[in-house]
Amino acid sequence: MVVLLAGATVAVYAYHPIEPDTAGVAPVDGQVVFLTSGCTSCHSVDGVSETGQIGPNLTYLADRAGTRVEGLTAGEYVRQSVLEPQAYIVDGYGEFMPTLPLDTAELDALVEFLLTQR
Ligand code: HEC
Repeated sequence: MVVLLAGATVAVYAYHPIEPDTAGVAPVDGQVVFLTSGCTSCHSVDGVSETGQIGPNLTYLADRAGTRVEGLTAGEYVRQSVLEPQAYIVDGYGEFMPTLPLDTAELDALVEFLLTQR
């Protein structure tokens, strides 16, 4: 009987895994990161911010990001574009993009946002 009870308890825990306590931690919004990190002074995304003209328009970035640099996935390319802007220079543009300080959560959210704009 004791053994059965213990088994039942384990089963209950298995079906109700303890969720991490995320109360009070707001998820990072990639669009907000894009709008507040200086990106919009140079880049536009249709329907979000359309004044930045110095760098390429990033609206259909997902269509080209995966083929820009051999061996880099779309996500890896966008990440590299932000962390090491000089690693790859888009044809027709100079080395004007600065490296902007973003933490990991901000960068993750930003990459997700940029790869879903069309
Ligand atoms: C001072 C202007 C400037 C700022 C600020 C800037 N960029 Fe750029 N960015 C550029 C220029 C110019 C290029 C094209 C040259 C190159 O590849 O570095 C570029 C290229 C890119 C590319 C590659 C686009 C492609 O078609 O392959 C991405 C992605 C990008 N920037 C994202 C960002 C993000 C995200 C931010 C904000 C965190 C940002 N940039 C801030 C000027 C800027």
